[in-house]
Amino acid sequence: MKILVTGAQGFLGRALLAAAGDAECVATDRSAEPVGGAACLAADLTDPHQVATLVDQVRPDWVINTAAITAVDQCETDRQLARRVNVDAVGQLAAACRRLGAGLVQISTDYVFDGTAGPYAETDVPRPLSYYGESKLASEDLVLAKLERGLVVRTLWLYGYLPGARPSFVSWALQALSQGRRVPAFDDQWGNPTYIHDLAGGLLQLCRVNASGLYHLGGATFMTRYELAVEVARFFGWDPGLVDPVPTSAAGLAAARPLRSGLATSAIERLLGRQTLGFRDGLVHMAAQDSFRRDCAHLFA
Ligand SMILES: NC(=O)c1ccc[n+]([C@@H]2O[C@H](COP(=O)([O-])OP(=O)(O)OC[C@H]3O[C@@H](n4cnc5c(N)ncnc54)[C@H](OP(=O)(O)O)[C@@H]3O)[C@@H](O)[C@H]2O)c1
Repeated sequence: MKILVTGAQGFLGRALLAAAGDAECVATDRSAEPVGGAACLAADLTDPHQVATLVDQVRPDWVINTAAITAVDQCETDRQLARRVNVDAVGQLAAACRRLGAGLVQISTDYVFDGTAGPYAETDVPRPLSYYGESKLASEDLVLAKLERGLVVRTLWLYGYLPGARPSFVSWALQALSQGRRVPAFDDQWGNPTYIHDLAGGLLQLCRVNASGLYHLGGATFMTRYELAVEVARFFGWDPGLVDPVPTSAAGLAAARPLRSGLATSAIERLLGRQTLGFRDGLVHMAAQDSFRRDCAHLFA
């Protein structure tokens, strides 16, 4: 099975390359900078010609599209860029996959929901509050409408350690707590944090069983961001009193956030025949990872 991973230099892209196992993964991103020692093909997905050339050259069985503008507030203020990357590029990828008969996995988000009644199931009606959520919802529609082998996987609150990747909220909190700094954390945003390696493994498994349609893949623990930060402090032995509960409204963010969110995962658990990882189990896995122990030893010195 040959898989083209877009956004390969990003957080999830790196996790997919690390999890590939017997699948042959080909990496692509905006630049040709190697990822985890592997070559990376440079392509700008907003250029239809580059997308067509890339997919025709690689001839994958699957494309897993992790490329996106993920900065939610940036999407609100630069809607044109968000539209080009999060929607138009997905349309180009879908067209190229359809021509070749390849499958396309589009990664989406709980931000397609309004956060009044989470956790949400696949059957719940989306109502995005932000342009990021709107753009991701539009990308879902493109993949599900254009492709027989189209698969949309919504996820949320990714955490874990990957060398070279931008820090997640958990890594950022870890860094701050280890230096005795205070950590403000929203106590009115609910979700289920998703361990990045659990998600990557699940996505590869979905390709292997030739899944299509819409699935939610999130972790097993529902909590607030405040509870998450407190759990990180407790787990690594730092003072949970350093975590300050703050309301989302205090942050003055450009884009509205879904507050009572979260993704229900019973459908994917039935399909994959396993449960997703709880938050504490994810932290146990992360703390035991060789690269984490090597690169983050200074935090515990
Ligand atoms: N992180 C989360 O907590 C979270 C939660 C829910 C859903 N998701 C979804 O999961 C997916 C992966 O997220 P992530 O956190 O791994 O994102 P990420 O770390 O921001 O990675 C996205 C990658 O896409 C690349 N990219 C952006 N524009 C491109 C273009 N025009 N052509 C080619 N590549 C381009 C980026 O390159 P540059 O760095 O050069 O821009 C980056 O390497 C996204 O679809 C996101 O919406 C993430």
